[in-house]
Amino acid sequence: MQKAVRIAPSILSADFSKLGEEVRAIDAAGADWIHIDVMDGHFVPNISMGPAVVKAIRPHTTKPFDVHLMISPIDAYLDAFAEAGADTITVHPEAGPHIHRSLQHIKSLGKRAGVVLCPGTPAKMLDYLLDMVDLVLVMSVNPGFGGQHFIDSQLRKIAAIRKMIDATGRDIDLEVDGGIDPDTARRAIDAGADALVAGTATFRGGPEAYAANIRAIRGE
Ligand code: DX5
Ligand code: ZN
Repeated sequence: MQKAVRIAPSILSADFSKLGEEVRAIDAAGADWIHIDVMDGHFVPNISMGPAVVKAIRPHTTKPFDVHLMISPIDAYLDAFAEAGADTITVHPEAGPHIHRSLQHIKSLGKRAGVVLCPGTPAKMLDYLLDMVDLVLVMSVNPGFGGQHFIDSQLRKIAAIRKMIDATGRDIDLEVDGGIDPDTARRAIDAGADALVAGTATFRGGPEAYAANIRAIRGE
């Protein structure tokens, strides 16, 4: 069942020189989750932050940490992100040899497990994973950078996954990541999304604008 939309600002677009302050500011501005993009310069063509950064910002908010891992190989790093304070750990099927095993491992650490599909990865990839995940993340841009344009073909995938999730009867979040602004947010929600990542659209205009930015993404 599609739930009320949760907004997950991506701190990839925050001011890295004062991340703690930025996290406190988006918490106060109404963020539901804090989205943390982890990139290794190998699985994706950019490098961002690792478990030490997750640990450093953990004391600055009690909001759930939604950790999106774009690293390969992935399995050796799952424990470190769990220990650093992740609440949900989301992995790409292409990032390791056995996605089912990676998700089992995340669950064994007591964390929420998410699977993320790139724009070219079909919804069918979920067939034998939906019985074990807490979240599905649909990438509406190719992973690696903030500030890219929303890829319209992903709306059809979001709608297909909405049906797949509802057919399971399980409580699974359907999150969309990339190129989200008030307009694409509305279209993603109409297609069935109930959680939205937003980097550029949250952080534009500086801290005074964050609350209004988040309200606009919610469609308020
Ligand atoms: C891209 C990341 C996204 C990104 C979103 O690889 O997964 O979370 O930061 O940024 P915007 O909202 O600017 O497209
Ligand atoms: Zn992300």
